[in-house]
Amino acid sequence: MNKIKIGIVGAGMWGETHARIYQDHPCAEIVAVCDLNKSKAENLAQKFGIRQVYTDYREFAKKSSCEAVAVVTPDFLHADIAIACANAKKHMIIEKPFATTREDVYKMVDAIEKNKVRVMVDFHNRWSPPFVSGKQAVDSGELGEPCSAYFRLNDIKWVPTDMLPWAGQSSIIWFLGSHSLDTLRWYFNDEVDRVYSVSRAGY
Ligand SMILES: NC(=O)c1ccc[n+]([C@@H]2O[C@H](COP(=O)([O-])OP(=O)(O)OC[C@H]3O[C@@H](n4cnc5c(N)ncnc54)[C@H](O)[C@@H]3O)[C@@H](O)[C@H]2O)c1
Repeated sequence: MNKIKIGIVGAGMWGETHARIYQDHPCAEIVAVCDLNKSKAENLAQKFGIRQVYTDYREFAKKSSCEAVAVVTPDFLHADIAIACANAKKHMIIEKPFATTREDVYKMVDAIEKNKVRVMVDFHNRWSPPFVSGKQAVDSGELGEPCSAYFRLNDIKWVPTDMLPWAGQSSIIWFLGSHSLDTLRWYFNDEVDRVYSVSRAGY
């Protein structure tokens, strides 16, 4: 069986999860890793037997032998990496949120379309058994026609204050809420018309 050669950009907490999954997958082989932080890249490489190690995503995109890339850098840093990889004709799985500004989205989609590469965003609720059961119950008509939904996620303050050093350059609506929004689009098989939002700051 031909294995897809994978490169991972971002050797942080979630990059390691990607590595574990690809290592177990019969159709994947991790050939390259890239992280600005050399020791993080080297640690991941050592742990998973990855031969090609980079600290510059441009060099990674140009020189690495991977066919597909997992972009697993902080939320606000997906765009330039995805564009460089698209220009190098790499297919991609890009972590959610795809991007955090409208300008980044347009630039990324342009590069992806121009280079005809395949891209998916890692909205993995779509493969998560409890969510899939709910979706099947909607699609089969078992629950009737859905007309409203309520989606709530709770997180502890430690996640944005300490666990994610870059949380201040993203937001809870990006790193958590994007899953909720995608799941609702998928359940309703529809897009959002209008958004009503309430936020509360403080303790
Ligand atoms: N799908 C999910 O449920 C899920 C879960 C966790 C995280 N994520 C997403 O994964 C992404 C990474 O999250 P994380 O928790 O692993 O963050 P992290 O901070 O642990 O890791 C990010 C890594 O990217 C590296 N990096 C930053 N800029 C870089 C660059 N220009 N080139 C190469 N490497 C660079 C950092 O050095 C760091 O090692 C985020 O977008 C996050 O929202 C998704």
